[in-house]
Amino acid sequence: MSWQATVLTLFPEMFPGPLGLSLAGRALETGVWSCRTHDLRQHGLGRHRAVDDTPFGGGAGMVIRADVADAALSALDAPKEMPRVFMTPRGYPLRQKDVSRYAQGPGVVLMCGRFEGVDERVLNAHSVEQVSIGDYVLSGGETAALVLLDACVRLLPGVMGSHESGVEESFSDGLLEYPHYTRPATWQGHDVPEVLLSGNHAAIAAWRQKQAEEITRERRPDLWSAWLARREKNEAATGLSGQVRQTGL
Ligand code: ADE
Repeated sequence: MSWQATVLTLFPEMFPGPLGLSLAGRALETGVWSCRTHDLRQHGLGRHRAVDDTPFGGGAGMVIRADVADAALSALDAPKEMPRVFMTPRGYPLRQKDVSRYAQGPGVVLMCGRFEGVDERVLNAHSVEQVSIGDYVLSGGETAALVLLDACVRLLPGVMGSHESGVEESFSDGLLEYPHYTRPATWQGHDVPEVLLSGNHAAIAAWRQKQAEEITRERRPDLWSAWLARREKNEAATGLSGQVRQTGL
């Protein structure tokens, strides 16, 4: 059984979009996953098939109506255990652990909003998870849905080689990756770090680890604090002191 993406949207033409190309595109062709869309407009009301209305309490923008959103969600034949996810900047931040949970399941139903959002009662009634891909506002949930699908599809069995799966593990370890270099060894007067040419695998691993730690501390203080806390906890559990651990590097 292939992994199934069902996307509820006012713009079905946006799918699979870029996911019809490259690795995800090949996996789509070979049936590793499927991507079907469901046009929210089908459930619109009146001659203009209106899906939205003004917010109770006033304020800017429009909200997708409760009856319309409910009709669309109820019309789907996706299995009950498949997560329903609404893409919104108000959502829980999407993390790699969420991506792997989705990828390990039978698929996802993604609901894409335009306007200000969807009536909250429907999201609650259908147990819809609310997910954000970052602290910025997109013009709609479709591009966010493509991001979530891309992140899931690359984890499906057979989509990527073993090389990239290793990279994935190194990210889920909680640190950003070390920098990469390739030929030529000297480019416009800039040399590749010498240790990488040494053939000393232990020294290379230690250098990369140190780089990963420094880059994470500098760029992502949030990840760095979490990583430090985890390291402390592990050391307490294994009885290793920081000193011993460091000389071991
Ligand atoms: N829709 C608009 N902005 C979004 C975001 N940052 N994440 C998910 N969905 C969105």
